[in-house]
Amino acid sequence: MPSSPKLFHARPSSYIRRSTALILCLLIGLSGLAFGLLAISRHGLGYDCKVGKPLSVSVRWDKTGGGSPDEGLKRHKVMGFVGIQTGFGSAGRRAALRRTWFPSSHEGLHRLERSTGLVFRFVIGQTSDPSKMSELKKEVAKFDDFLLLDIEEEYSKLPYKTLAFFKAAYALYDSDFYVKADDDIYLRPDRLSLLLAKDRSHSQTYLGCMKKGPVFTDPKLKWYEPLSHMLGKEYFLHAYGPIYALSADVVSSLVALKNNSFRMFSNEDVTIGSWMLAMNVTHEDNRKLCAAECTQSSIAVWDIPKCSGLCNPVEEDAGASQ
Ligand SMILES: *[C@@H]1O[C@H](CO)[C@@H](O)[C@H](O)[C@H]1NC(C)=O
Ligand SMILES: *[C@@H]1O[C@H](CO)[C@@H](O)[C@H](O)[C@H]1NC(C)=O
Repeated sequence: MPSSPKLFHARPSSYIRRSTALILCLLIGLSGLAFGLLAISRHGLGYDCKVGKPLSVSVRWDKTGGGSPDEGLKRHKVMGFVGIQTGFGSAGRRAALRRTWFPSSHEGLHRLERSTGLVFRFVIGQTSDPSKMSELKKEVAKFDDFLLLDIEEEYSKLPYKTLAFFKAAYALYDSDFYVKADDDIYLRPDRLSLLLAKDRSHSQTYLGCMKKGPVFTDPKLKWYEPLSHMLGKEYFLHAYGPIYALSADVVSSLVALKNNSFRMFSNEDVTIGSWMLAMNVTHEDNRKLCAAECTQSSIAVWDIPKCSGLCNPVEEDAGASQ
């Protein structure tokens, strides 16, 4: 209230002037109080409204085109959308995450979003098993922290889910970065936020812990590559799968492409890497995204390269948070 100091300094020479000043003061004070109460009630209402609104969102795809989710969705502006890819067998991992770095309540998710500019959701598809679906429904009702994709979870080993995730996240959020992460890593959201907020000269960024590596031609091996005849002995540079980020410009190009128009290798990280190889992106390598243990600067911690995540995610997540 800029007028208060003037009234405070009103000369006491005239009684009338003084009482006018007092009445004015009282009026201003009262209106201030009323304004304050109004603001509090408004804020309170808006707040309740936000907290009450479901956070989980289900994405239905247009079956004919396989294109985009429902038209008319309002995209929320954020700095980063972090999709934690999870599955029907991973309730224990999600519980471990919610006990450690992943907020376990609406209020916590909102607070983390406000402090980091990052939205975190578990990303899961569907299954034909009704009992598993009803378990998931209960978990969605309880924690409300999911992005539900309209695809069969059986494809989760293949890169289809990742592409569906990027399309859904892009449709729902106007984000600077889209982060794909697995549910078996330990993450520091505050440090991830600082990394994504960094100034970059290129708008097309592929950010992750970069590697090359042998192409496996033996079908008995876990990382066997049936399309190895198209590759050399070593893969092109690509980010490890447990966590990587694509900038908005990159994701918008992926979203624009028709389903089935991209080559899918058997490994998800390699597949994304092959698309990035074709695109004019900057490969930004950051070893803090694949730290073997918690340090002053580690962003994501997992058992590189022993497991493609933490080897014992449920126990180790609890250990890392200590
Ligand atoms: C895209 O194509 C794959 C392979 O044909 C299919 O399994 C998947 O369900 C399709 N996805 C969408 C969103 O239509
Ligand atoms: C690739 O991107 C850079 C930086 O944005 C730009 O200067 C360059 O012209 C692009 N190259 C091609 C082939 O489009």
